[in-house]
Amino acid sequence: MNFGVLPLPNINNITVVGSGIMGHGIAQISAMNGYDVILRDIEERFLDSAMNKIRWSLDKLVEKNKINKQQSDKIYGRIKPIVDLKDALVDTDLLIEAVPEDLILKKKVYSEVDQFAQESTIYSSNTSTLPISEISQLTSRPERFIGLHFFNPPQLMKLVEVIPGARTDNSIVDVGINFVKSLGKDPILCNKDVPGFIVNRIFIPLVHEAAYCLESDGKSMTQIDSSVKFKMFLPMGIFELADYTGLDVIYKATVEMYSRDKKVVNPHPKIEELFSSGKYGKKSGDGFYSYGDKNYERIPLSEEEAKQYDPIRILSVAINNAAWLISNNVCTKEDVELALKLGMGIKKDLFEIGKEFGYEKIINTLNQLQERNGSFYAPDPYLKSFSA
Ligand code: CAA
Repeated sequence: MNFGVLPLPNINNITVVGSGIMGHGIAQISAMNGYDVILRDIEERFLDSAMNKIRWSLDKLVEKNKINKQQSDKIYGRIKPIVDLKDALVDTDLLIEAVPEDLILKKKVYSEVDQFAQESTIYSSNTSTLPISEISQLTSRPERFIGLHFFNPPQLMKLVEVIPGARTDNSIVDVGINFVKSLGKDPILCNKDVPGFIVNRIFIPLVHEAAYCLESDGKSMTQIDSSVKFKMFLPMGIFELADYTGLDVIYKATVEMYSRDKKVVNPHPKIEELFSSGKYGKKSGDGFYSYGDKNYERIPLSEEEAKQYDPIRILSVAINNAAWLISNNVCTKEDVELALKLGMGIKKDLFEIGKEFGYEKIINTLNQLQERNGSFYAPDPYLKSFSA
């Protein structure tokens, strides 16, 4: 079975290191597209939980007639959970590292991987915020190293950002792009290795901005979330999405991005507070909202509640960071729009939504925020072309 193009001729065996939310999903879609996959983690219990999630997801796809039961069993059988790293790397053509976002941990993982991987193995990282150039320097092969950033849930989101590091060979960029296509996903090339790449440069600051709005605007979380869903056309509210992504992921991404560029996000203390108290969102049962133990749960949001709030501040920050990406040649306007559609499920062009709210209002909002809260909010020069 193959949902993408075809498995790449030189890549048959994939090893995914790290079996969390992203790792197990990447393993699953690789197996769904004909690759033999080893899923590696440091303890059996993590792998058991990952394989249960894969089974749940495959059952959902069967329920929805996307695949049949026989195909589901075949896909499941193509994924081999392994703890021993040496065994996990014996025959690997492509390594996909999906361990937590901590450079010290990644350094440890790559120093172990380097002991066992064959010379021909290509390395890739699913990092969402750490610079590819920095990670690749920790390995024996920066020329054969590429960023492949998938989105949660990898089984459903079509986008993969492809990020070359400073020393990545062009042939490896091509392999990365073609591998993504072979998974039936859409690659978008991130021309510069900037903090947050494309989507997280927009998404992470939005979570913080929504927390400022919650603090100052006297509205409830579901009112703010409903306005984001029904007026900004995101498929989830922003607090809902933060819980779904994981407050641990968001907190670590914030720290990494902010330490490298103060212009990328205006951190709100609530994120650190939730992280420090172990409230990671859906996965821990508590975050902005509280959850039961179902695999997949949604927060009830409504158009009625959306009427109670104007998300102009949240929208203005999203548009301003999108404009920054374009001004700084990280990607084109078309790529930003496509990345937001495929990576965050936004149903309308962001700059079109901006037009409906009015660019004068957006720039005024940013100017007021800049006066009160500093240069993070300074309107990007690119926005001026919209208000002219
Ligand atoms: N596998 C299979 N099926 C799944 C699934 C999975 N992993 N996850 C959810 N589903 C199923 C659900 O169970 C549901 O099934 P039922 O209809 O039987 O209930 C079905 O998919 C559709 O779910 P919804 O009815 O909730 O519909 P939706 O249209 O909202 O789609 C969604 C769900 C695709 C998750 C959508 O809400 C979405 O795109 N949300 C935004 C996700 C996003 O922004 N991701 C990026 C986060 S940032 C990131 O990942 C980067 C980073 O580095 C931090």
